[in-house]
Amino acid sequence: MPRLAPSLFRQARNQISPFAPLLLPVCRTLDSTANELRWIKEHVNSTDSLVPRKLGIWQACLKREKGIPLQYILGNQPFGPLDILCKPGVLIPRPETESIITHLTTLLPFSSSPLKILDLCTGTGCIPLLIASLLPSTSQILGVDISPLAISLSRQNLSHNISLSHLPLSASKSITFTKSDIFSPSFLSSLPFSSGELDILTSNPPYISPAGFNKNTERSVRLYEPKLALVPDVNLGKGYVCLPEDVFYARLLEIVSVLQPKRVLFEVGDVEQATRVAEMVVRGGELKNYAGTVEIWRDDPEREEKERISLRNNEEKVEVKGRGNGRGVYFWRKDY
Ligand SMILES: C[S@@+](CC[C@H](N)C(=O)[O-])C[C@H]1O[C@@H](n2cnc3c(N)ncnc32)[C@H](O)[C@@H]1O
Repeated sequence: MPRLAPSLFRQARNQISPFAPLLLPVCRTLDSTANELRWIKEHVNSTDSLVPRKLGIWQACLKREKGIPLQYILGNQPFGPLDILCKPGVLIPRPETESIITHLTTLLPFSSSPLKILDLCTGTGCIPLLIASLLPSTSQILGVDISPLAISLSRQNLSHNISLSHLPLSASKSITFTKSDIFSPSFLSSLPFSSGELDILTSNPPYISPAGFNKNTERSVRLYEPKLALVPDVNLGKGYVCLPEDVFYARLLEIVSVLQPKRVLFEVGDVEQATRVAEMVVRGGELKNYAGTVEIWRDDPEREEKERISLRNNEEKVEVKGRGNGRGVYFWRKDY
């Protein structure tokens, strides 16, 4: 990353605020520094605290200077129409996730009966809460995560967004979050859905390889976001024939083969991983019902751009939709 000129620090101090030079190294531009400082000031002003206002702003800027993500300092992140509460220990929702989930909801037919939706590795609960806020029909939704911190925050996000009227009151009954390990042998039998009745299964699981985490993952993510949310534990790979970073998809496909949901969307890290996951779907013996339906979505799947790519060792081609980085693998049941 190029070093910043000392003159830019002077400009930040003179044109924005004496606090601005603290934010400049993480924000990189004057515009972005001015924006972050405004959000920090608004946050400090809205918080009841015995700490004097200026000291509060200075403390927040020092945290940001260390690389602590802004969302952990401010305590929230806009996500579609929702306000998602964020706390250290739970992954911050990303705009790419918002983009593919929003696109998914545009593909769903109107349904007068409640849609049954399962979100695995739910974190803050951002995916199921966004689906619930965008769908005109009511839904019966379950979000699952292994982390007690995540489950507690997802429940807070449910009540917080009901209190802001971003979700209807009925969501307090129709949306539930539960702590569970999706690799546990008893996981499937603990679910309240029988085979064939789920409308949608979504998941944004941990998908970064240990090497990729050490080499390519941004410093603030590496230091301050939970590794449990990002890198699959190496011990999970035993019994699965795949790369360590793909092991969650192998397990998710076992779950799909039993539950036979009508539509499935997985978030992935890039086109290479999307291609490997698409191959797992095509090869999966118990996934015949989904043959020929697999699509790869890029960051912005709403875009008209489309191409077809061949899968390795396979005659089959899949459609790649949208623009940007490879972000999702989507497939649906043919008989539906
Ligand atoms: C990439 S984060 C996604 C969070 C959220 N869905 C989002 O999009 O922001 C992955 C989540 O998987 C959870 N997780 C990790 N291992 C798990 C397991 N064995 N069973 C269930 N959840 C798990 C982590 O706690 C983390 O919240």
